[in-house]
Parts: sequence; C-alpha cells; structure tokens
Amino acid sequence: MSDRGRLTGRARLDPGARERILAAAAPAPARSDTPPAGAGPSGMAELRAIILDLQDAGAAADTPADTTPPARDDPAPPPDIEANWARLATIPVDPGRMDDNLVITAARHDPAAGAFDVLRTRMVQAMADRGWRRVGITSPTKGCGKSFTALNLAVTLSRYAGHRAVVLDLDLRAPALARTLGMAAPGPVGDMLRGTVAPLDHLRRFAANALNIGANVALGLNDRVEPYAAELFQTRQMAQVLARIEAELAPDLMLFDLPPALAQDDVIALAPLYDCILMVVGGGATTPREVRESLRRIGEDKPVLGMILNRGEGADGDAYRYAYY
Ligand SMILES: Nc1ncnc2c1ncn2[C@@H]1O[C@H](COP(=O)(O)OP(=O)(O)OP(=O)(O)O)[C@@H](O)[C@H]1O
Ligand SMILES: [Mg+2]
Repeated sequence: MSDRGRLTGRARLDPGARERILAAAAPAPARSDTPPAGAGPSGMAELRAIILDLQDAGAAADTPADTTPPARDDPAPPPDIEANWARLATIPVDPGRMDDNLVITAARHDPAAGAFDVLRTRMVQAMADRGWRRVGITSPTKGCGKSFTALNLAVTLSRYAGHRAVVLDLDLRAPALARTLGMAAPGPVGDMLRGTVAPLDHLRRFAANALNIGANVALGLNDRVEPYAAELFQTRQMAQVLARIEAELAPDLMLFDLPPALAQDDVIALAPLYDCILMVVGGGATTPREVRESLRRIGEDKPVLGMILNRGEGADGDAYRYAYY
C-alpha cells in the first residue's frame, strides 16, 4: 500500500468540526417546513440518520459485511437484460492498484471498508423506499473524496448479488475513475452521453477476480476532458441516454461521480436528471458556508440523501485520515 493509503479507521475531527458541518447542513426554517416531494417527513432528518448510522458503523467495521441483497420485486431479470449485461466489456481487476488507489472495499484489509457497506445498505434502502434510482455524488470543493466514495460504493454494491448498479464518471472536466482502476483508454464517456456510441458499447463491468467483486455494476469511464459539460448535461440526448441505460440494463441504482458543486454549473445543470445527492465533505477543509452555498445552488428542492465527512483531521493533524459520520 502506498503512503497515501494510511487509513486508520475513523479519526476524530478537529474539535467542533462535526458540529459546525452539521449546523451548516441543518435546514433553513422554510426548508424544513416544505420537505422535498417524496422525501418523507424531512429530507434532512434522513441526512442526520445516515450520518449517525455511519458513525455507528465504524465501531462495527470488523464484523463481516452484510451481503444480503435487498428485497426486489423482480429478482430474475428478463433474458434480454441478462444478455445485455453479458455483452459488456470488462475491466481487469488489479488488487495492488486497488490498494494503492484506496479502493479499500476491494481487498477489505482496512477496517474502514465496513463503513462503505453500511453506507451502501442505508443508501439502497432509503432510495428504494422513495422510488429513487439516481444519486449524484458531489462536494463543495475539489478533492473532498467524491471519486473515492463513488468507486468504493461501486465495489461494495457489486457484492449485492441480486442488485444491479451503474456508476458514471460525470466529472467531465477532470475524469478520474479510469485512472484509479488502471484503464488506459476506456473511451470518451461524452460520446455515449451524446448518443453517438451505444451504452452497451461503452459501459464495462469488472472482470472475474479473486476479490469477490461482482459483475453486476456497470461503469461508464472516461478518458477525454470535456470543457462544455454543463451544456452537454442539458441536452435532450443526455436525458435519453440515461433512459436508454435504464431500459437496457435495468439498474436498481445509478450513481454519478460529479464535479464540485461550487465549481462551474455542471452539478446544477444535471440536477433535473438525478433524484437526490450524496454530499462528501472534506472534514478539515470544507467550511460550513461552503456546504450551505452548495445546497443552495443545487436547489432547495433537491433532497440530500446523506452527508459523508471524509478525511477528518485527527488530533495529530494528519489530514489523510478517514472519518465517516
Ligand atoms: N479518506 C481518505 N484517506 C486518504 N486519502 C483519501 C481519502 N479520501 C480521498 N483520498 C485521496 O485524496 C485524493 C482526492 O480524492 P478524490 O479524487 O476521491 O476526491 P474528489 O472529490 O473526487 O476530487 P476532485 O474534485 O478533484 O474530483 C485522492 O488521491 C484520494 O485517493
Ligand atoms: Mg473526483
């Protein structure tokens, strides 16, 4: 494992950081009075519940992962859906690279991997309860751990045997997932999003491997920077391509690895096409004002499914620790 991979399970945030971030994410009075459609009694109440459950998860991280798939209405996919999944090209799984690049859910050496299992389970349940299928992963600023979260969720979702997920690298200005997985030339995801390359020709799934990473997650990787991401996200083709992916692969869940919410307008432009957001907060780096401003920009009516406090600063000031709350 590289130097960066010094994960130590949950680390304490600097004094008061957790309270400040939660206060920033607390609903404004008008917002709590008018919860988002379908968000239950309060979208923010859900947010707090997820944060607290993740905190509990850290303590139980050494227990084996829950790999029981959630209840499904249609456990057996129609034959054409199965055939479509079987058609996808594969991504070779390199355990050493996974370790070096902090895909901690792959080998599961790190006890913190358990927190991702809990995040997955809570996310799948919360979304199924509300009939939501698409979640955007964002953060206020760069480098908070969005891609780290997206890939680790992809791996832990792949272990739900009866569950299908699609994970798209939609940080078109700074694609990262392909490099992290060691795929040199997965092709431009933009071509798929414009409808010039068929989803089944672009999406890939994990190759057979010894790490029990499943083949039921399709990844849309990218090797070309797109400066006009926000414009692309608002085209009719983009909406049609996402609908086509759902028709051809019948995913239970689609995850979008997005850019930071405070950089450009990509996250806002895509908002009509995702149901809710998962906000990754860089524990020691993100300010409450940035969290509040991000939520305001994305839109008061867009439910926040959860908030992940990543890389909390420990008492020794090591910013490369890891915390989920
Ligand atoms: N908990 C953690 N512990 C140690 N390193 C981490 C942790 N989370 C993320 N990192 C590392 O920090 C760097 C930034 O993380 P990542 O790329 O996931 O952030 P991002 O929010 O996607 O960034 P960007 O805004 O540039 O897309 C990466 O090198 C990643 O491996
Ligand atoms: Mg990223």
